[in-house]
Amino acid sequence: MTMFNLKEFQARRNQLLANMVEGVAIIPTAPEVIRNRDSHYPYRFDSHFYYLTGFKEPDSVLVLIASDDSKSENKSILFCRDKDMEREIWDGFRYGPEAAKTTFGFDETYSIAQLDDMLPKLMANQSKLFYSLGASSDWDVKVTGWLNKVKDLARAGVSAPESIVDVRQLIDVQRLLKTPYEIDLMRRSANIAAGAHNRAMMFVAGKFVKANQNEYAIKENEVEAEFLHEFYKNGSQSPAYTSIVAGGANACTLHYNANNCVLKNGDLLLIDAGCELDGYASDITRTFPVNGKFSPAQKDLYELVLASQFAAIDAAKPNNHWNAPHEAALEILVQGFIDFKLCKGTKEEVLENGSYRQFYMHRTGHWLGLDVHDVGQYTIKEPKDKAGNWAILEPGNTLTVEPGCYVRPADNVPEHFWSIGIRIEDDVLITKTGNEVLTKNAVKTVADIEALMADAKSKHV
Ligand code: GLY
Ligand code: MN
Ligand code: MN
Repeated sequence: MTMFNLKEFQARRNQLLANMVEGVAIIPTAPEVIRNRDSHYPYRFDSHFYYLTGFKEPDSVLVLIASDDSKSENKSILFCRDKDMEREIWDGFRYGPEAAKTTFGFDETYSIAQLDDMLPKLMANQSKLFYSLGASSDWDVKVTGWLNKVKDLARAGVSAPESIVDVRQLIDVQRLLKTPYEIDLMRRSANIAAGAHNRAMMFVAGKFVKANQNEYAIKENEVEAEFLHEFYKNGSQSPAYTSIVAGGANACTLHYNANNCVLKNGDLLLIDAGCELDGYASDITRTFPVNGKFSPAQKDLYELVLASQFAAIDAAKPNNHWNAPHEAALEILVQGFIDFKLCKGTKEEVLENGSYRQFYMHRTGHWLGLDVHDVGQYTIKEPKDKAGNWAILEPGNTLTVEPGCYVRPADNVPEHFWSIGIRIEDDVLITKTGNEVLTKNAVKTVADIEALMADAKSKHV
């Protein structure tokens, strides 16, 4: 666990209050969700709420009051569950409003039971309401009810907010630039996941020896279990998303997560798995041979994807636009597809007609942070230059770089490439001078993978 950094969260709230200028913001956390009958899914707080509070309990709402009037002050108010000995015996510790106020540095805290009574009062005479309409119909109903209550007081001289601003859009802008505190967490999250990928390669190599000797099959979900073990053992609270553990042809299903097949000698294994550390996601994909040695066809395509990834990582630097890494990856992939007789035509023709999409149908990355597909715009309104209106990369941005190649059997495809699916994904921080690959500890060259797996095998023979 990281020490709670009160100042960090207060600074985030103060920044949002300054951007609001004047008005009231309502930011609820996520509800608990039933999995079946009376069992819940593991609870995960709302990322926007957590970003501003550091508070992980359900049934909580943050209210911010921004005032440009020098006589009144900005305020951060938390509504949360009361202390309740009976419930705490069953479900565990709750802060309660009193302890939450001092621990998390709010100006005021109240019981969540007071929300309906207090919100119309807090919304009264505010010029603007900062609230994200459409994110939750339950909250939309509540907020509309409070708004109508304030409007009913018009003849008593009370005014209601005249406009509603999407508060998430303001927070998204803040979240796009990571602070040193966030970068530290992301580095650690990346490191845990990188270690887990290395261990998975060693695990499969060791198991492979046994499987061949004693007919012990290695199952995809057995490898997935290794990831969960490594994540939890190293301080992560959860996987950041459902792990993809895809042997052989399963890797050509982009979001494969059945993870229930037996690995086969001669196949590749694609694993897309990352963890969450204090809310911050890592997102890594590695692809390696089940038996520890790439076949010539596997090696050809792997080296191609790796070259495209290196080119894309090089293009992830300040002042380049968002699409530069994707374009750099495509240049290399398309030339390779032509050389390997997967695509026909010149590079320019294949880029133009999009026939490469038969083998590379996704984009090269996404923002990364509290959400694995993190918030933040990929385009800007102005200025538009020859590159279009892609967002410009800035120090503090964090993104993934994840080119791939997925070859389904087809008449127009050389048979030795059939059913090979490869993706190589790293997490990258844009720095002042270029970038830092946060996941650099996960091995990825052919030589390093083969050496690591040979070493693990030798220990099991
Ligand atoms: N793991 C999800 C992704 O790579 O986008
Ligand atoms: Mn990703
Ligand atoms: Mn991924």
